[in-house]
Amino acid sequence: MKFELDSETRRALGYKLIDCIDHYFSSLPDRPVQLPAHERTFGSLGHELPEIGEEAPRVLDEICRELVDKGFHVPSANYFGLMNPTPTYMSVLAEALVAALNPQLATLARSQLASKIENETVRWIGERVFGTPAVPPPSPSVEGASSTPAFAGTFTSGGNEANFSALALAIAAHFPGSVENGVASIGAQPVLYASAEAHHSLDKSVSLLGLGRKALRRIVITDNLQLDTRRLESRIAEDYANGYRPFCVVGTAGTTNSGAIDDLEVLGDISRRYGLWFHVDGAYGAAATFSDKHRHLVRGIERADSVTIDPHKWLAMPFAAGVILTRHPATLRKAFEVSTPYMPRLENAALIDNFKISTQWSRRMNSLKLWLSLRVHGRHAYEELVDRQLTIARRFHDWLEASEQFEVASPMYLPILNFRVKPNGRTEQEVAAANVAMVEEVTRDGRYWISSTVVNGRSVIRAMIISYLTGEENLRGIQDVLTRAANRLSVSRSASGR
Ligand SMILES: Cc1ncc(COP(=O)(O)O)c(C=O)c1O
Repeated sequence: MKFELDSETRRALGYKLIDCIDHYFSSLPDRPVQLPAHERTFGSLGHELPEIGEEAPRVLDEICRELVDKGFHVPSANYFGLMNPTPTYMSVLAEALVAALNPQLATLARSQLASKIENETVRWIGERVFGTPAVPPPSPSVEGASSTPAFAGTFTSGGNEANFSALALAIAAHFPGSVENGVASIGAQPVLYASAEAHHSLDKSVSLLGLGRKALRRIVITDNLQLDTRRLESRIAEDYANGYRPFCVVGTAGTTNSGAIDDLEVLGDISRRYGLWFHVDGAYGAAATFSDKHRHLVRGIERADSVTIDPHKWLAMPFAAGVILTRHPATLRKAFEVSTPYMPRLENAALIDNFKISTQWSRRMNSLKLWLSLRVHGRHAYEELVDRQLTIARRFHDWLEASEQFEVASPMYLPILNFRVKPNGRTEQEVAAANVAMVEEVTRDGRYWISSTVVNGRSVIRAMIISYLTGEENLRGIQDVLTRAANRLSVSRSASGR
C-alpha cells in the first residue's frame, strides 16, 4: 500500500481510530488496569518484518483491540500507581494534530506560531511556579531600561532531561570556563547535594556531565522524610574544608516514593548563604502551584534558580512533556548555545531558537497538548484537580489510620500514601514479606494497581491518586480489596498466633 491515501480512506481510518479512543475513554472509570496474573505474558513478539502491507482497516482494528484488551492501562481510574496520569482528551487530540503538522521546533524560522505557543506555555507554567510575571513592568526610574525576563525555560522529554539540564545550568553558572574547557579545568572536584530520597535521574546526570556519581552527596532524611538541613550544612562545610567545590543544592518537591517535600525555604537560605545554585525537582509536586489553596505546600519553590516540572505527571498530559524553568535566562544560553551554518538567521526575532536553550535539536511540539488543555479547561480545572485529589487522599489516609490491619507509614504531603500491615509482633523482615504479599494479592486479578517500595529503609505499600477520573467509588473499591486481601492473608493475626 502506498503512503498517499485518498480523502475517503483517511476519513474512514480516522473515524475508526476516534471510535476506538472514544470507546476506551468511556471504559476508563472502571477499567481493570491489566490482565489477571495468569494471563500476563512478557515474551517478545515474533512477527516477520512485513514486506508488503496489509489492509489498513483490519490492521488498525486489530492493534486497537489488542492494545486495549492486553495492555496495561495507566489511564484507568483504578490505577493507584506511579506518577502517570489519565491524559486529558484535548491533549489526545493535540497529539494527533502535532503529528500531522509535524512542526520542527528546533528553530523559530521553521515553526513560528508553534514556537510562540511553546514559549507561551512555558510562560504560563513559570508564572504559576515562580508566582511572578515573566516580564517585569518597566522601571519608571530607569529611562529606556529594557525589561529582562524574570525567568525562561524550555520543554524537555521529561523530568530526567529537565534535571540533567538544571545541573548543566548550575555548572555553567558556577564554573563558566568549564562549558568550553571541560570539568577538568575546574581544578577541583565539584560536588552537589540532594536528599537520600531524591530521584535517580540526578545520579545519571552527574555521571553524564562528567562529574562522576560520587559528586552527588546524598544527605540523610529526617523522620518527616525531608532532607536533613543540619546535616547538609555540616557536609557543605566539611567539603569546603577538604578542597571540594560545592556548587548546587537540589530540593525535591514531591519525592517518587512518598511525595515528601523538602523544606524549600531553608534550602533556599542555605544555598544563598553558601553561594550555591538552588534547583527544585518539582517534576510531580510543582504542579501544586496551580492551586491557590495548596501552593503553600511547595512554599520556597519561588526562590529556586531552576525548577523541573513534568506536565506528564500532575498536569494530566500524555508522555512526553517535561519543562525546565530558570530565573537566569542568560545561563540557559551559556549552557546550550551553539552555532552552525545550516540554521537560518532571523535578525529581528524577539524569541530565541529552542535549540540554543536546550539539549535537543530536532524537537517535537510537546507543548500544544497543555496549551490546548489550558485554553479549553482553564487553570481552574487544574486547581480543582489538585484540591480534589488531596481530599480523596486525605480520606484514604484517615481510613488507614482507623484500620485494624494497616498503619500509615509516613506523613502525607501530596496524594501519595505509604502504609504497611500492622506489625502485630512481626519482625521487620516479616512485615516486608507481608507487604509484598498484600500487593500481589491486591493486583492478582488485574483490576487495581498499587505497589510496594522501601522508604527510609522500611518496606511500605504505596498507593497514589493520580487519575482525574479516580473518585469515591474507586477509593471504596481499593479499600474493599485491601480489606479482603488482608483477611485472606490474616494480616491482623498476631505473630504469636501463627
Ligand atoms: C521526583 C522525580 N523527578 C524526576 C523524575 C523523572 O521524570 P521522567 O520520568 O519524566 O523523566 C521523576 C519520575 O518519576 C520523579 O518522580
